[in-house]
Amino acid sequence: MIAKTENLLSLLNGQPVIPVLKIANVADSVPLAGALSRGGLRVIEITLRTADALEAIRRVAAEVEEAIIGAGTILDPKQFGEAAAAGSKFVVSPGITSQLLDAAKDSPVPLLPGAITPSEIMTAREAGVRFLKFFPAEQSGGIASLKAFASPLADVTFCPTGGITGKNVADYLSVPNVTCVGGSWVAPDDLIKAGKWEEIEALARDASKLK
Ligand code: 3PG
Repeated sequence: MIAKTENLLSLLNGQPVIPVLKIANVADSVPLAGALSRGGLRVIEITLRTADALEAIRRVAAEVEEAIIGAGTILDPKQFGEAAAAGSKFVVSPGITSQLLDAAKDSPVPLLPGAITPSEIMTAREAGVRFLKFFPAEQSGGIASLKAFASPLADVTFCPTGGITGKNVADYLSVPNVTCVGGSWVAPDDLIKAGKWEEIEALARDASKLK
């Protein structure tokens, strides 16, 4: 699993922000992923929170060459398999379960599982996962919690998500055990609905220059 985590980190290649997308209309997926990629955010997460999510992942994987598409909100092995089959290069889960860890062990697709307690982080470590989503970040102690993990859980790094915005992103990225953050603020629903791809590209460009 450590090798797969390394693969995920190399896909990220220093990208400071992963856009977390909820696709209401599948037709938006390709122009949206194109705009984010052009803005410098190539690693993109489409959450399985809408009916069209898997089709959106399929389309982005097939049509947006520069994007590195992943699936989010993966809750069980069935969804893990469906997301991988749709072309996801990585999968993200809000939490950590033994079934998901087993599915990840059997798949070449890296898993970024969520953990917010020392016990969950230690469970991930035991499975060889040292890069974790910290969700919901703001509601779970935010930066203060992440800093408190640094000494006892020194070999683990985090991608906090949940409540991160243009206002607090720089503070999160300044924490040494934060590798990147995730969030929806770089692709706001109103801009997606209005098809304002250039504005989303500009938000992505600003976010890509952080850290
Ligand atoms: C996630 O799944 O990572 C979060 O829902 C993103 O949270 P945000 O919408 O507060 O950025």
